[in-house]
Amino acid sequence: MVEYANSGKDAITISHNNRYDIALVDIMLPDMQGTDLVKKLAVMLPSTDFIHITAHAALDSAIEAARQEQVVSYETKPLDMDHLLVVLKQIMKRKKMEDALLQAEKLKSIGTITAGISHEFNNILAIISGNVQLMKRSYKDHEELVNALDIIMKATNDGAEISKKMYNFAKTEVGNTEYVTYDLSDLIKQSIEFTMPRWKNMAQANGLNYHIDIEGIRGISEVRCNSAEIREAFVNIINNALDAMPVGGRISFSTWNRDDSVFVSVSDTGKGMTEDVRKKVFDPFFTTRRPQGTGLGMSIVYSILSRHNGKIEVESEIGKGSTFNLQLPIVSRADSTRAIPETEQESKSSGHIKSV
Ligand SMILES: Nc1ncnc2c1ncn2[C@@H]1O[C@H](COP(=O)(O)OP(=O)(O)O)[C@@H](O)[C@H]1O
Ligand SMILES: [Mg+2]
Repeated sequence: MVEYANSGKDAITISHNNRYDIALVDIMLPDMQGTDLVKKLAVMLPSTDFIHITAHAALDSAIEAARQEQVVSYETKPLDMDHLLVVLKQIMKRKKMEDALLQAEKLKSIGTITAGISHEFNNILAIISGNVQLMKRSYKDHEELVNALDIIMKATNDGAEISKKMYNFAKTEVGNTEYVTYDLSDLIKQSIEFTMPRWKNMAQANGLNYHIDIEGIRGISEVRCNSAEIREAFVNIINNALDAMPVGGRISFSTWNRDDSVFVSVSDTGKGMTEDVRKKVFDPFFTTRRPQGTGLGMSIVYSILSRHNGKIEVESEIGKGSTFNLQLPIVSRADSTRAIPETEQESKSSGHIKSV
């Protein structure tokens, strides 16, 4: 999106409620010096990069102005649009990389804390649950007590479930033994089947229409992965898409190969996200769906992709829907050792507590 301002004052006004990746500022403005405007805007827009525009005659002052921290470049008039486009593309590419790096660092440090908490939590919950079971056995004739113990047990299991999710987010590596070579399209189809009861129920209960479009799924290369985890990632994405489409809609899948990677895109026609939400989707405990939401779903997906050396990105438009783009490295022939088809025992969790 591009916006124009006719004066320095205008630029300040529109910057109050907006964020910009890049701002092009003429050195000579009708109402103030471009360099002064940049000083003011830099405070309001700390993540914006500024480019000065100048006539040849004022080149010296532009170079001088470019010493300011947030001024990354200058362009001379008349503008060479081809050159400008290249500069803008480079800046956007760098910003995207910086964002990804920042996100990775942030998640890494939250991951360390989360791993610690989930470990402590599990030990505590295991003590509670063990003692509740003992008491239930000892006082099985005391109905009121047994009911109370059942409630404690249920809360403990809920806690264990959250703790397990936290652990799944904080985990950084897939053990080598957990890897199998898999066709990603099969995993997508299995995930759709896993979630089918949910969207079928939602549709039937409320007279809604959910359409799952798999026409974009093409034959793609195999990846080495922990299939239960990758399936979990797709199940989380599908469940979020359903959450975002309370009045029905469409989820479309497409897959393709490029270079050494397999790409999958999952689009929904749901309510979409604001830019603010979009930036936080992968943050643990970030949710707009309290109290039901835990905000752990997408952080687990991000973590699963990371430990598979993959990537995930999201695009979204309010009122139109969201698209999650996933990328996983293709397995090379050398390390392609097909594993025995697995049984499904690894897949589903059961509120049971284990020390991690
Ligand atoms: N497909 C989607 N459409 C719109 N918003 C989404 C979508 N997926 C995720 N989100 C947003 O990201 C937030 C975090 O998602 P998630 O980590 O799965 O947590 P939860 O589902 O528990 O809220 C959601 O609360 C929602 O605001
Ligand atoms: Mg979710």
